[in-house]
Parts: sequence; C-alpha cells; structure tokens
Amino acid sequence: MTSALDHDLAHQDEVLTRALAAALALLGSLDRRPVAVAPRPCAGEGLDETGAGFAAALERFNARFAAGFSASAGPRYLGFVTGGATPAALAADWLVSAWDQNAMSGQDSSAPDLERETLACLRTLFGLCADHSGAFVTGATMSNFVGLALGREWLGERRGLRVSETGVAALGPVRVLSGAPHSSVHKAASMLGIGRSAIEAVPTQAGREAVDLAALEARLAALSGDACIVVANAGTVNTVDFDDLRAIAALRERFPFWLHADAAFGAFAAVSPEHAHLVAGLDLADSVCIDAHKWLNVPYDAAVQFTRRADLQQRVFRNSAAYLGAPGERPDFVHLTPENSRRLRALPTWFALRAYGRQGVREIVRECCRHAAGLGARIAASTALRLLAPVRMNVVCFGLRDVPAGPAGEAPVQAFVRRVRDAGDVFVTSTVYQGQWGVRAAFSNWRTRDADVDRAWSALQAAVAPAA
Ligand SMILES: Cc1ncc(COP(=O)(O)O)c(C=O)c1O
Repeated sequence: MTSALDHDLAHQDEVLTRALAAALALLGSLDRRPVAVAPRPCAGEGLDETGAGFAAALERFNARFAAGFSASAGPRYLGFVTGGATPAALAADWLVSAWDQNAMSGQDSSAPDLERETLACLRTLFGLCADHSGAFVTGATMSNFVGLALGREWLGERRGLRVSETGVAALGPVRVLSGAPHSSVHKAASMLGIGRSAIEAVPTQAGREAVDLAALEARLAALSGDACIVVANAGTVNTVDFDDLRAIAALRERFPFWLHADAAFGAFAAVSPEHAHLVAGLDLADSVCIDAHKWLNVPYDAAVQFTRRADLQQRVFRNSAAYLGAPGERPDFVHLTPENSRRLRALPTWFALRAYGRQGVREIVRECCRHAAGLGARIAASTALRLLAPVRMNVVCFGLRDVPAGPAGEAPVQAFVRRVRDAGDVFVTSTVYQGQWGVRAAFSNWRTRDADVDRAWSALQAAVAPAA
C-alpha cells in the first residue's frame, strides 16, 4: 500500500467526516450559489505519481472545480428534467458506496432481493400488474434501449428467428412508429442496429404532441400485417403530453406490434389523482420506461424498465458462464440488464419509498405541478413572454413574444437563456416546439417553494429586458 492509502485507512472517520462537512456546506449554499455557470476553460492536470490523500484531493477539487459546478440539486434548476435528492435518497446513495455490493448476482448476497422488492413497490406505485418484471438501469435512455431490444427480439420471434442468436441483419427491415418520441429513442435504435431511420414519425394531433390515433391506425393498416414496434409517449419532454395508451393498446387486437411506453417522468401522473387518467393503460404496454432520478428525486443515475416478457429479456441479456451461473427460475440481474457488474442503485429508491411512501411522492408531484401552473399563469399574462403550450403538469414551455417563428428565433432565444443562466438565479433550457424556438422550465425538484418561483419569475423578466 502507498502511504496515502495507509493514512486514509487509518483516518477513515476523518475522511468521511470531511466529506459530510463538504456535502452539508454545499447543500447549505444551494440558495446562495449560482444555479448554473457558464463553463470556463479548464487546464487539465495530469496523473499524480504519488497521491496526497483525501484531504488534499478535496482541497484541490474545491479550488479547481467546485465553483464551476451547477446547483442542479437545488430548487431553481429548471433545465432539462432534473430531480434533486431527498435526504433519505442521498444518504442511501452514500450507503450504496459503503456497502459496494455488486448487485448482478445473488450467489453471495441478498442485495438482488432488495432490488426485486423495490421494483415490486414501484410496480404498485405506477399501477403495473405483477406480470411486469424488470430491473434498474442507469437512466431512461437505457430503459428505452432495453424496451426496444425486447421489441426487436419479439419481432424476430414473429419472423421465426432469434435476433439474439442470428444478429439483427437476419431480421430484415424494422419499423418503429411514434408520434413525438424522445431523442433517446433514436439513440437506442442506433445502438440496437435497428437504425435511426427505422423510426417513422406518425402525425400528432393538431397543436399537440400526442399521437393522432387515426394516423397511427392508418399507418399500421398500411403495413398489411407486418409486425412493428410502436413507441407510445407518456409525458413528452416539451409539453408533457400523453398518448392515449389504452386506445393504442387496443389497436393490437387488429395489428401486430410491440408496444413500448416511454413514461420517463410522465409515469408519475399515476400518483396524482388529478393526473392519473393520463397514464391509464400504462400497464398494457409490453415494455415500460420510468426514470427514478427525475421525479422520484433519487440521485443520478437510476431508472427502471419493466416488461411483460421476462423470457425475451433473458434471451437478449443472458450472460451465462461457469463462474456466473445460468439463469434459473429467478434469474440474477446479470442475465437481465445491459451491464454485468452494477451498483445497487435500487437502494436510494428503496429508502425513498420507505422514508416517504406513496404520499411523499404524491406531494412532490403535486407541488411541482402547482409551481409550473403558477409560473405558467404569470407567463400567460405577460406582455413579453407567451406560453407555447398549455401547462399540463410540470413543464412550462414558453417563448418570447417578439421572436420570429422558424430558425430566426434561435439566436434571440439562446441569448435569453444565456442571460438567465449568467444572472445565476434560475436555469432553464431552450427547445424547439412546433417550429418555434422557445424555452422550457421543468419543475422536478422536491426543494422548490413558492419563493423560488417568485425568484425564477423575476429572473425571467429581468432577462427579457436586460439592464442597459
Ligand atoms: C420522455 C423522456 N424519455 C427519455 C429521457 C432520457 O432520460 P435519461 O437522461 O435519464 O436517459 C428523457 C429525459 O429527459 C425524457 O424526458
């Protein structure tokens, strides 16, 4: 061992106490530090031949990087769809590292049972029946990847082959139909050898991101019995719009398709009585994608995938070796997910659900929706800003009134978003919605309070009319 390792081992308490102090200092500063910062050029430092121990490394991190990190854990970070970390989830995440379980195998540990229990609780939370089984993955992108991989295997089954054995070339053309798929669906198609061009955009309803059912039906009918994959969207990233999942599922009575539902954050509608109807039918999907690091407010990275076809999942992801074992009645996660070795990323979710229950999740969802509605109402009444879509749940999609439609809108919107970021009170991200450059403010953090919405609103107004 090097002396730095010996030193840190002997002073383990001190190392962890310093880390705790650093974490508390950060969390205590979330209200004061800039919500986001423009990236600054950073001269990389090379590998150290001998280390100086944790305390010195922490000093170096603080001196070189800490100020340049965003306050994404905080209440006014409204970019992308970004959750924070509740206290129980954060503490549990530390325990994940302390335990350092490799949750791929149940040969030596009951960690996989904890993951199974967590998945069963999530199933209940989202109204999925016991036919759905699944696994934790790193994020919704990987969850969509797994869902499409299962759809690909199912298509093979229909065509009398096993893609997991023959390879995707033997499968022939694959069609993936979807109204307003998230970009990660395109990425998953690329990774799976299906190809991005396999995704066919089905028209959406007028002024909406929800798929036009008649158009989907017509497209399916035109395939003359050829099986395909349909990606239904439950909570689109721009306007949180929902496909009619029940109606899409009913189309399977007449047309053969694998139904994958991307409910990365929209699935949380299920916990809110006012919104639950939006995800009615989620259970009917063949595979379902749900993120945990967004609205559940567990730390990155965590998502789940569910499917009704555990057999296909094993075919695709089986990883048999003498030392790992073969998948049995209750296959280890090594046979179910893209990874082999994997952290016990179910633990923060297990703690969050035990600590706060369904009611806690409902509270977070309700509050985020209330804040989004509040900001949306102010924008709707503004002379400088305008809503680009109704506020359905937790995302406010808006534009600048004097910005032209089409590509000419990009520069002024990006400049607005930069001004907002550089003022440091709130962070929002740009987008294009129905050909119009706009801005998204997504509320997914459990810490956000009314005062934060006031502050965000002031910051947006100030950025519209920057000081001369
Ligand atoms: C609907 C939807 N699907 C998939 C993703 C990808 O999620 P992740 O970044 O966790 O991979 C997102 C991210 O915002 C999303 O909103």
